[in-house]
Amino acid sequence: MDIAKNEITAFIGPSGCGKSTFLKTLNRMNDLVEGVKIDGNIYLDGVDIYNDMDAISLRHRVGMVFQQPNPFPKSVYDNIAYGPRLFGVRKKAELDEIVERSLRQAAIWDELKDRLKKSALGLSGGQQQRLCIARTLAVEPEVILMDEPTSALDPISTSKIEDLVVELKKKYTIVMVTHNMQQATRVSDKTVFFLLGEVIEAAPTEELFSMPKDKRTEDYITGRFG
Ligand SMILES: Nc1ncnc2c1ncn2[C@@H]1O[C@H](COP(=O)(O)OP(=O)(O)O)[C@@H](O)[C@H]1O
Ligand SMILES: [Mg+2]
Repeated sequence: MDIAKNEITAFIGPSGCGKSTFLKTLNRMNDLVEGVKIDGNIYLDGVDIYNDMDAISLRHRVGMVFQQPNPFPKSVYDNIAYGPRLFGVRKKAELDEIVERSLRQAAIWDELKDRLKKSALGLSGGQQQRLCIARTLAVEPEVILMDEPTSALDPISTSKIEDLVVELKKKYTIVMVTHNMQQATRVSDKTVFFLLGEVIEAAPTEELFSMPKDKRTEDYITGRFG
């Protein structure tokens, strides 16, 4: 499958079909799983990420946001500055700038600018998830992987994240797992349907939902199973 630059690609399919596992192969998070066996090749801008790239520089370029917001038990500021510091940014003025830019991009600067020194754990779930997105943006990745980023959130926070994701695709390439087909139709350009560990169909979102080519895709999107 091709994942196009500056597009949102959604992965859909019933629970347990391998969406998260596949997503994690894209920044080699599965390397950490004991006994894992990976076949095939994945290329980022033409470079084989398993054979010709080290995992650290790959994860610098391909960031990830998880299902449960997982801020560090640190201040808002230190959450965002964490990645840049790890990659060697030391000057306070430069870190200040990164923190502000990242929070602005994640549409949460106005809400957090007066509590940068406060613990990130005191934020609401929706704010924590936007903070985690800002933390990912702080190291300026090219690709952002999101694994059901709104499944733990209320409808208002969900809609904020969806608007944000659509805004972010101007600058980033986004791959998002969602178990919510309406969400895929609202935000994504392409949709990929998974079943039992395999990709059944990948197509422009409108096409996949209006004229699925495979009977199994049709059965799934019309609610016959899953
Ligand atoms: N291609 C695959 N081959 C073998 N096992 C797989 C494959 N994809 C996923 N699994 C296993 O199936 C289970 C569910 O996968 P997961 O990626 O969590 O599904 P989903 O995110 O779609 O709910 C996990 O235990 C995972 O290790
Ligand atoms: Mg999953």
